[in-house]
Formats: sequence, structure tokens, C-alpha cells
Amino acid sequence: MDIKNLRINGRRLQDAMEEMARIGKTPAGGVQRLTLSDEDRQARDLFVKWLREMDLAIMIDEMGNIFGKRPGKNNDLSPVMAGSHIDSQPKGGRFDGILGVMGALEVLRTIHDNTIETERPIIIVDWTNEEGSRFAPAVLGSGVWTGTWEKDWVYSRTDIHGKRFGEELERIGYRGRLPAKKWPVHAYYEYHIEQGPVLEREGKVIGAPKGIVCIHWYDVYVKGTANQVGPTPMEGRNDALCASAEMILKVNETATKTDGNLVATVGEIHNSPNSRNIIPDKVHFTVDIRSWDDELVIRAWDEMRKGFDAIAEQRGCPIRIEETWKVKHTPFDEKLVKRVLETAQQLGYPNRPMVSGAGHDAGYLSMVAPTAMIFVPSIGGRSHVEVENTSWEDCEAGANVLLHCILQSALEK
Ligand code: GLV
Ligand code: MN
Ligand code: MN
Repeated sequence: MDIKNLRINGRRLQDAMEEMARIGKTPAGGVQRLTLSDEDRQARDLFVKWLREMDLAIMIDEMGNIFGKRPGKNNDLSPVMAGSHIDSQPKGGRFDGILGVMGALEVLRTIHDNTIETERPIIIVDWTNEEGSRFAPAVLGSGVWTGTWEKDWVYSRTDIHGKRFGEELERIGYRGRLPAKKWPVHAYYEYHIEQGPVLEREGKVIGAPKGIVCIHWYDVYVKGTANQVGPTPMEGRNDALCASAEMILKVNETATKTDGNLVATVGEIHNSPNSRNIIPDKVHFTVDIRSWDDELVIRAWDEMRKGFDAIAEQRGCPIRIEETWKVKHTPFDEKLVKRVLETAQQLGYPNRPMVSGAGHDAGYLSMVAPTAMIFVPSIGGRSHVEVENTSWEDCEAGANVLLHCILQSALEK
């Protein structure tokens, strides 16, 4: 058969996605598959079983990253890699991450069924802890693999219950022996839902991001004085929650002033002792700031910090700030981005270049290998929510683009 006419099996992709969506299923139709949880383990086990059925060489590294390798004609050539993540947000959707893993699986199944020989090996990958929601920061599996983070530092990260990353990895049985260390990669493709409204709004099926925005994460700890709410007059209070409320608004106001060039969010807050009749004395909240313009983020954070200091002073609530994560904006490989757009065009899918406002493992991968992503529309532009949705038709289209991008790279000598 002419390889150009090859297409993935959309029904089989849907079945795999639906089977995965049963693991950690939430009542409102989403999933909760937190990193290194029992649900993460169950989904990994199913993924590994499917890799075995194709006789792929399975490798699990010290970070729990899972790789399945299909040999090429010349295994001295660097492989083509594709994948994404299996973990989810606490109230996440059925598509974020898993579509990129199941999409790559479907591509390999198609190549396998048609006994296509490629020049280069192809490796499918599930990266550990993309979300960063249970263990911050995000994209830790690919972060260690690409040499950004030290494995032992990551092992020592704790969740809100004090559970350590390394122990949880061991507990679910996915602490492999292979060093989490990069090898040469010919091309890395990550297939993902857009997680925003652009493609749907414009009636496009495929998006090819030119790169990922920069992302800065901070953890802010505010200290007040706890006291009985009744006898304590309003004057002279050091209410850590009121101070935090003002700081949170400062984050929002600073971002709103940038004419759409920057977004900033406080998404997590812990108030202590969290009792209706005690003045709060300890608050911890997070700040997430993103933009394509790194300098703009630095200036905005500076403004926010100055505002925080003034509020802390005025309310008598000292603050401590930790810088949890700072990653510069990452442009993808121009040749591969062009290839995604051209492949979409050849397959008859309306397409456009864009920017990714969400973080992805592809960000770290692009620092060590030519990288590109393939986006498909998110219905209503909703993601990181249980109603997250993408039509099966679009899922199939994106996987066909992935198939032909992988084939082109894997046939290169
Ligand atoms: C990853 O899910 C992100 O926060 O963009
Ligand atoms: Mn994702
Ligand atoms: Mn996500």
C-alpha cells in the first residue's frame, strides 16, 4: 500500500481513550489520576500491557517515565519519540495528556498492523508528573530526563499530606532502574488538546504551536496573629487571610493591565486554622504567571511583589516567598512545526500556527531535541475541568497528523 494513504483507526483510538477514562472516573465525567496515585498506577499498568501486546521493548527509568521502543532498520540512528502524560489534575478531563499517549499508541498500532519498516526506531513515552498539581513543580519526569532537575531533589518533593515523591514512586512500583538521562532524539512530537478556545472559534482542526509561553510559579506564605473573633476588635488585627485577599487581587489587577499579553492566577490557597471563629494566622497561596514575553513577566512579578510588601506592612502580616518554578518561553523547531502544518494541509484538515499557553513536556524536550506539538480543538475552550471534551473526529484527525509526522521523521536516514 502507498504509505500516503495510511490512516489510523479512529474507533480503536476512541476505545483506548474510553478504557483509560474509566480509571479515576469522576461523577461529573472527568478523571482524577493524580501523579503516583493508585489510579496513576492502574493506568500505567494498562498502558504497559498494551505496549507488551505489540512486543515493544519496555523501559522504565528512575523517574517512572515509561518508554516503549519499536526497532527500525538501523538502530544506530537516533529514534523518533512521541508521547505525553497519563496523570491528571484533581478534577481533570478525559483528554489532557492521555490523548497524546493513546494517540501515539494508536500510531504505533497502525504502523505495526501494516508491518511498516522505518529507518529509525520509534519510541512512545509516558512522562511522570506533567501536571505538578500533587507534586510541584510540573513536568518533573521530562525535567530530570533532560537534565534540568536532580533526581534526588525531585524524590524529596512532598504533597500536601507530606508524602514524598520518591516513596510514592516506589509504592506504586514504577521506580525503574534505567537512569533518567536523555539520549539523542531525532524528533519529538507531542499530540495534545489545545486547552483554549482558538481552534474552535476559527473552525480549525489542527493547531501547530510555535512554542510554549514562559511559566513562573511562586508560593507565598503569609503570617498573621490568631485570636478569638468575638472579643478582638477590628482595629489592630493581623488577619493573614485579609492580607492574602488583597494580594490575590493585586495579582489579578497587574495581569489585567497588560492588554492580554500576560496571564496570572492564584489557584491554590490553604488557610489556617480555617475555623469560622478564629482570626486566620497562616495562609499559603500559589501564583502562576505566564506570557510569551519573559521580560514582561519579570516586570509584572516585581510590581506584584512590591504590592505584597506594602499590604504585608499595612496589615502587620509578614510574608515569605518561594520561587518554585521558572521556565523561559520555549520556541519549537521551525522545520517540525512547518511539517505539522503541511501534513495537516495534505490530509485536508484546516490548520493554523499558534502559541501554547499551557505547559507541556515538549517544553523541556525542545531544549534537547527538535520538537513540535499537534493541537486539536477543545470544545468550548474548556480544560482542567471535568467537562473537558474534544470530538472523536478531531481526535482521529490529530492522530493522523501525528502518524504522518512520525513516519516522515522515522523514514529519514
Ligand atoms: C499544565 O497542565 C499547565 O499547567 O499548563
Ligand atoms: Mn497536558
Ligand atoms: Mn494539564
